[in-house]
Amino acid sequence: MRTGICDQLGMEYPVLAFSHCRDVVAAVSRAGGFGVLGATILTPEQLEIELRWIDEAVGGRPYGVDVLVPEKLTGMEKGARFDGAALAEMIPEEHRRFLDSLLQEYGIEPSDGSDAEHWDLLTSSPSEGMAAGLTGEGAVRLIEVALTHPIRLVANALGAPPAEMIKAAHAADVPVAALAGKRGHAERHVAADVDIIVAQGYEAGGHTGEIATMVLVPEIVDAVAPRPVLAAGGIARGRQMAAAMALGAQGVWTGSVWLTTQEAETHPVVKEKFLRATSSDTLRSRSITGKPARQLKSAWTEAWDGPDSPGPLPMPLQPLLVDYALHRINRAAAAGAPGAVQLVNYFVGQVVGSLDAVRPARQVLHEMIEEYVDVVTAQADGLRR
Ligand SMILES: Cc1cc2nc3c(=O)[nH]c(=O)nc-3n(C[C@H](O)[C@H](O)[C@H](O)COP(=O)(O)O)c2cc1C
Repeated sequence: MRTGICDQLGMEYPVLAFSHCRDVVAAVSRAGGFGVLGATILTPEQLEIELRWIDEAVGGRPYGVDVLVPEKLTGMEKGARFDGAALAEMIPEEHRRFLDSLLQEYGIEPSDGSDAEHWDLLTSSPSEGMAAGLTGEGAVRLIEVALTHPIRLVANALGAPPAEMIKAAHAADVPVAALAGKRGHAERHVAADVDIIVAQGYEAGGHTGEIATMVLVPEIVDAVAPRPVLAAGGIARGRQMAAAMALGAQGVWTGSVWLTTQEAETHPVVKEKFLRATSSDTLRSRSITGKPARQLKSAWTEAWDGPDSPGPLPMPLQPLLVDYALHRINRAAAAGAPGAVQLVNYFVGQVVGSLDAVRPARQVLHEMIEEYVDVVTAQADGLRR
């Protein structure tokens, strides 16, 4: 089962695990896979703390770091400095009113005054505010921090990574991966000198395009050969992994399957919802980030798609508008407030339908590998007969 990607990145199994949770990242790397920490929501200082912890926890096993640098950000020229206050002024009154009335309808407590402080944080200068990590400048600072640690991969989503990021990673001998939702993305990544392409299909959790993994992977494998391709979207078990490898991928890049592991810090109400959900219970919605992202259906997504909705704003205005409201919903849901429990949701892919038990990350990985080996062996036996 060792493929070129295992030698390139130094892990035993060609399974990469994207997670915002350092415990998941470390557990997967320790178990023979490759954990990738999602860093977009962190400040450089927070990232430094997380990576110090991971370095201790992985005992020399390989891991990577992922950021998001959208190619297009409304209200910002490419490469422009993040100016949260100016962006905030672009949020229409109609949208603020819609959000307030939605929160009121579901009984979410009005602001306790800490909004002001939070708003300051959201709109403050690069790499301190929430949306700042989305700018090229914020993300490059995160990668600079990451490169002072023994990371083995830098990954980027929502566009080709900035040239500065690729240069810095290559200077440190660290390969760069980038997510692609269609062939054109992958070709742009190759032109930018990205080393590994993650072909991520429609069924994936988080930001995702419109082409299914089954169609996308071979198309990208052929387009970027001999560059290695990882398949992503809809992979949570060995049979899916075997299919991805048959499509020409050198390994798999997974996200949703880790959200219900023992180690995952997924909101407890959301974790319960995930465990009960079917594969029909997700949709692509712009209601959290402003770009289409697959997430669990909830009263929140229904309201933003409903007849009274003014429609989500583009990125980064939508996250600026809703970030604090989502914090308040999460807090209230954790305390059991019924309206908040109806609203609360999170990014997850269609494989949520098969996530029906909480297991340690190590067990998830090893069961995936065992099933992969079983199915590949059975197929080979069938062919010999
Ligand atoms: C909760 C969640 C958050 C995500 N956030 C990011 C992110 O910040 N950066 C990124 O490159 N991909 C992100 N993704 C996408 C994953 O990297 C991965 O491509 C995807 O989860 C694979 O499909 P799957 O969910 O079917 O396993 C996210 C996915 C999920 C489920």
